[in-house]
Amino acid sequence: MSSPALPTASALDTGRLLLGVFLPTVAKGPIIRRPWAVALAARLDLDTRAVGIVRTIHAKYPTGPLLLKVPLRKQAIVLAPEDANALLAASPEPFSPASSEKKAALSHFQPHNVLLSRGPVRTVRRALQEQVLDTDHPVHHLADRFVPVVEEEMRQLLAEAARGGSLPWDDFLDAWYRVVRRVVFGDHARDDKDLTAMIIRLRKDGNWAFLRPKRRKVRAAFLRRVADELADAEPGSLAAVMAAAPKGDGAEPAEQVPQWLFAFDPAGMATFRALTVFATHPEAMAAARREADADTSGRRFLPYLRASILESLRLWPTTPMILRQSTRPVEWADGTMPADCGVLLYAPYFHRDDRHLRDAHGFSPERWLTDEDDGWPLVPFSDGPVVCPGKQLVLLLTSAALASVVGDHDPRVERGQHLDPSHALPGTLDNYSVVLSVSPRS
Ligand code: HEM
Repeated sequence: MSSPALPTASALDTGRLLLGVFLPTVAKGPIIRRPWAVALAARLDLDTRAVGIVRTIHAKYPTGPLLLKVPLRKQAIVLAPEDANALLAASPEPFSPASSEKKAALSHFQPHNVLLSRGPVRTVRRALQEQVLDTDHPVHHLADRFVPVVEEEMRQLLAEAARGGSLPWDDFLDAWYRVVRRVVFGDHARDDKDLTAMIIRLRKDGNWAFLRPKRRKVRAAFLRRVADELADAEPGSLAAVMAAAPKGDGAEPAEQVPQWLFAFDPAGMATFRALTVFATHPEAMAAARREADADTSGRRFLPYLRASILESLRLWPTTPMILRQSTRPVEWADGTMPADCGVLLYAPYFHRDDRHLRDAHGFSPERWLTDEDDGWPLVPFSDGPVVCPGKQLVLLLTSAALASVVGDHDPRVERGQHLDPSHALPGTLDNYSVVLSVSPRS
C-alpha cells in the first residue's frame, strides 16, 4: 500500500514563507552579504518577523515536513526539531547537500567542491577536507603557527584603532582577511588583496545564482592561482597540508580551497558581533576576561570564548538556510517525500525558539558548555555527516582573536545598533554599521 503524501501548505501560506522568510534571507546575500540589505533587515526587524511567520505556519501544519506549492520545483521545509535532526543525520544520502540552488550559486567559483558533489567523489573530497582541516580535533595541528598569526594581526589592528580612535567593521575585516590569507596560503600572501578581490567578485556573482552568467575567465584565473599556490605551498599553511595529503581519485584539491577563503568571512562576522556583545554586556565581558587572564593553553583552548562564537552564531547564524535535496523518495512518519525535492531547514526558527530554550534572545554562552540543549537543533555549523569540517579551526582562530582584544583592551560601541543586556537581542545585528572604539584595558 502506498503511503500518503506529506502535508502541503496552501498557496497563501507558501507565499507568506516565500515573501517573509526566503526573500529577505536571499536579499541579504546568501554567498556574500549585501550591506544595504542587512541594514534594511535590521531596521525593519525582518529576521524576527521571519521566525514569527515560520512559527505561525508550524502551528497551522503541526505534522511534516511541509511541502510548499512552488511552481516548477518540489520544495519542503522541516518544522519539527526531530525532523530537522533526522534531515541532517540522513545526509548526504538520501538528503544531498548538493541542492540545485546551491549548485547554481557556488559553481560560480567552485563547481567541483565537496559541497556540490555526490557519490564516490564526495567521499574522497570530504575525507581530504577533514584531513587538512583536522575536523576531529579541537586544536588544529598547526595551531602553534596559526595562533601567533591571529595575535600579531589583532595587535596591529588594535594599535591602529587606538591611534585612529575607532574600529569599524571594514578595518576589522581587512585584518581578518590578512589572517585568512596567512593561514590558508602562508605569510607571503599576507597582503595579496587581489586574491581576495577575485573571490569576492565571483561570490557576488554567486549571490545571483543562475541569474548571472559565469565569468569563466575570472574563475579559471582564480582556480589557476589557487593551483599555483598548492604547487608551491608555503610550509606551515593549510595549502601545504593539502599539497602533502594523500588524495583519492577525483579529489580536485584546488576546488576544495575556495570554500575556505569564502567561509572564513562569516567567521570574522561572528567574531566582530561577539565583540559588540562583550562591549555591551559586562557579565559576559567579565567571564571572557577571566578565561583570557587564566589561560595556560597559549590561546589554543578557550572554552568560554569558543562558546561565545557559537552563541553569536546561534543568535545571528551566518548560514540561516541549510539546504538539502532528496536523491530518492523518502518515507517520513507523516508521508512520502518525492525524489528531487528541495528541503529547507531555517535555522533561526530553532535557534530563537523561546518556548524551548532558556534565554533564547539573550547572550548565554554557558548553554554550549552544558547539556541543557541536547537534542535541540542548534546548528550554526550544520550537524551530522555533512557538519562543517572547518568548525574546530574556526573556533580556534576566532576565540584567539577574541582573547587578543578583550585581554588587553576595552572595546566600546561608538556607533551602530544599541544592544542592552536587559532586553531581547535583535533578530539582525548589522555588523556593517557598528563602529567600536578601543582603549587600553583599565
Ligand atoms: C563561522 C564560520 C563558518 C560557518 C558558520 C560554517 C558553516 C557551515 C555549514 C552550515 C556548512 C554545511 C552546509 C550544509 O549543511 O549544507 C558548512 C560546510 C562546509 N564548511 Fe563551513 N562554516 C564556517 C567556516 C568554514 C571554514 C573557515 C572552512 C574551511 C577552512 C569551512 C569549510 C567547510 C566545508 C569544506 C564545507 C562542506 C562540507 C561538506 O559538504 O561535506 N567552513 N559550513
